[in-house]
Amino acid sequence: MLGTGYLGATHAACMTELGFDVVGLDVDRDKVARLSAGDLPFFEPELPELLCKGLASGRLRFTTSYEDAADFGDVHFVCVGTPQKLGENAADLTHVAAAFSSLAPLLPRRCLVVGKSTVPAGTAALMARLLLAHAPAAEHVALAWSPEFLREGNAVHDTLRPDRLVFGVADAEAERGLREVYAALIEAGVPVVVTDLATAELVKVAANAFLATKISFINAMAEVCEAARADVTKLSEALSYDNRIGGRFLNAGLGFGGGCLPKDIRAFMARAGELGVDQALSFLREVDSINLRRRDRAIDLARELTDGTFAGKRVAVLGAAFKPNSDDVRDSPALDVASRLHQQGALVEVYDPQAMDSARARFPHLSYAASTLAASRDADLVLMLTEWAEFRELDPAVLGSVVRQRRIVDGRNALDPVSWRAAGWQYRALGRP
Ligand code: UDX
Repeated sequence: MLGTGYLGATHAACMTELGFDVVGLDVDRDKVARLSAGDLPFFEPELPELLCKGLASGRLRFTTSYEDAADFGDVHFVCVGTPQKLGENAADLTHVAAAFSSLAPLLPRRCLVVGKSTVPAGTAALMARLLLAHAPAAEHVALAWSPEFLREGNAVHDTLRPDRLVFGVADAEAERGLREVYAALIEAGVPVVVTDLATAELVKVAANAFLATKISFINAMAEVCEAARADVTKLSEALSYDNRIGGRFLNAGLGFGGGCLPKDIRAFMARAGELGVDQALSFLREVDSINLRRRDRAIDLARELTDGTFAGKRVAVLGAAFKPNSDDVRDSPALDVASRLHQQGALVEVYDPQAMDSARARFPHLSYAASTLAASRDADLVLMLTEWAEFRELDPAVLGSVVRQRRIVDGRNALDPVSWRAAGWQYRALGRP
């Protein structure tokens, strides 16, 4: 497993669980040391147990040595990150190129290399050429692309019981190899779609583009609901009973963030431009804009509740992670809003059940509290921006007893307006009257 971030570490532990001997490689020594000690560097339910179980079995270990990994593996999974390029929409492929370039000259024998990273269409073909040019066992090295669809917070389940497996291959040998690796999952009934390399690359970004569009669709409806004094949560509920639409990814609120959806739709647009079909994806620009506008709207609602100014106002922000059950704060809508309130003069106190360390590292200028009640003490306004279960279950009377003003913005439509208003709160939400 080359790369031991969210994707690689999860895949390494899950592959061990499936009975394989696994080596996880990372260039980050600290990460390798922590993983080797059974200390998962990020929050992911069920994964710490699986990691420790794998290490104890003696079939899972971690290394920083490409020689070690190249020599060890019959199958090499490339799981490194493809972040957004600084100042551009395109994906930064530095880590993918480095992984393939480091591995290729060390491949001594027949093996299968499987790309799992999310990449622009055409990358796999380039990497195939690189392997052919640099691997000593070149004609015995097969390449496949098998994108990963795991959601943070559900990573273990999504890896061991995925909705589908996508095998992008250029020859029968690569398909055979992948079918052998994933035999247990295939036997358990997981559907397999076999494609060429470019289609497999596109499946992943198309899936993320669709999900982002669905979220922005309901958030666009939220904008209309606000103008028409209608309720987007009821609208969404009514739509959800239509089997053709379905209710998942139809929760209006502060919109999407994280390490995947935002950068993937931007990289997809950039690649479409290079391919000369930018018009086909120009709607994603609107998807991105709708998404970012929700943050502005949340700030407007907050300003309305604080009588038009944030200067000197105490604001509690509940939630820092980009979504619940994760400590990931990459492109977190919650922290973006918190940071902008701080810039506008508010005294912001942030609390998140898991993401405090990652939030502090990325936004050191914000102030952090140890609990919901500590963050909310003497607050003029509370913003609930990531719908952790402990926030959904908050008792409005208990929270009301510590704040200075009972005013709340529900950024995720996760609270019951009736009970909050009954407890004397001024309650505002996105897309609701
Ligand atoms: C996503 C894809 O789901 C996954 O298949 C892919 O492999 C990686 O990107 P992830 O980033 O973990 O996974 O988060 P996801 O659960 O998809 O949520 C993305 C964002 O959308 C979150 O910020 C979430 O809060 C937001 N969201 C989700 C909404 O605003 N409304 C919804 O109805 C659903």
